[in-house]
Amino acid sequence: MESILLSTEKFSSLHYLRYGQGFPIVLIHGFPESGTLWNNLGKMLAEHFTLIVPDLPGAGSSRTTSEHLSMEDMAEVIAAILQREGFPGAVIAGHSMGGYVALAMAALYPHLIKGLSLVHSTAKADSEEKIQTRLKSIQLIRKGGKEAFVKGMIPNLFSEQFRQRNPDVIAEQIDRAMDMDGDSMISFYNAMIKRADHTNSLMKLPFPVQWIVGAKDALIPLKDALAQCHGADVNFVSLYEDCGHMSMLEAPDALANDLAVFADYCYNR
Ligand code: MLT
Repeated sequence: MESILLSTEKFSSLHYLRYGQGFPIVLIHGFPESGTLWNNLGKMLAEHFTLIVPDLPGAGSSRTTSEHLSMEDMAEVIAAILQREGFPGAVIAGHSMGGYVALAMAALYPHLIKGLSLVHSTAKADSEEKIQTRLKSIQLIRKGGKEAFVKGMIPNLFSEQFRQRNPDVIAEQIDRAMDMDGDSMISFYNAMIKRADHTNSLMKLPFPVQWIVGAKDALIPLKDALAQCHGADVNFVSLYEDCGHMSMLEAPDALANDLAVFADYCYNR
């Protein structure tokens, strides 16, 4: 496993991991996580694929230099990593916010994408109600309430059943989320608030799209996911019955298998 640092015009210190062998899959984490979230899953794929696992600016070991982060800024980071690695294109898998980054990348650099896997994510922009909830969370974090915010948010990412059976996993995710500083959380939230809606551009994407859907996902309602998951030209859809927003922890075997099948299709079609 190689740990690599990179700088771009906008970001002085970006970190990513590279390991495994074969065609590349980029695994982009969500909020408020870092690349380590993918460790387990990455290992399951490493025999057949090269995994590129960035920490987005402000997460894990990557620094952010700006309060004004956008999905496009983060898409540029992924493009810079692919360029540095000499990959002409890759399957890009984005979990939740990582999916918003992947969609920005699809708009800016479609030629770099062999396939797009949206793992518990959505092409829709925030609703007005969601924006108001995010603004309240930003206020709470600004007032020193990061811990309350994290403790309120993390358990909600998992299905009720998983939460009850795995309190240690929830506690670990809370600890990890607490490593992110409050300013970075606010930058990510602002980037999510102002992100573009990509629902109409889905059908024009020149590559296959995979939809990983958790039937118990409290963040991406099932009906929203089902309304979108036939929007592209070629769609792979996996619905996990007893899963919330975190299949890389709740259903890792199914996710690793489905990602591998999708990536094989994208590279061999
Ligand atoms: C995530 O899991 O990346 C975020 O919670 C997504 C969101 O808040 O929209």
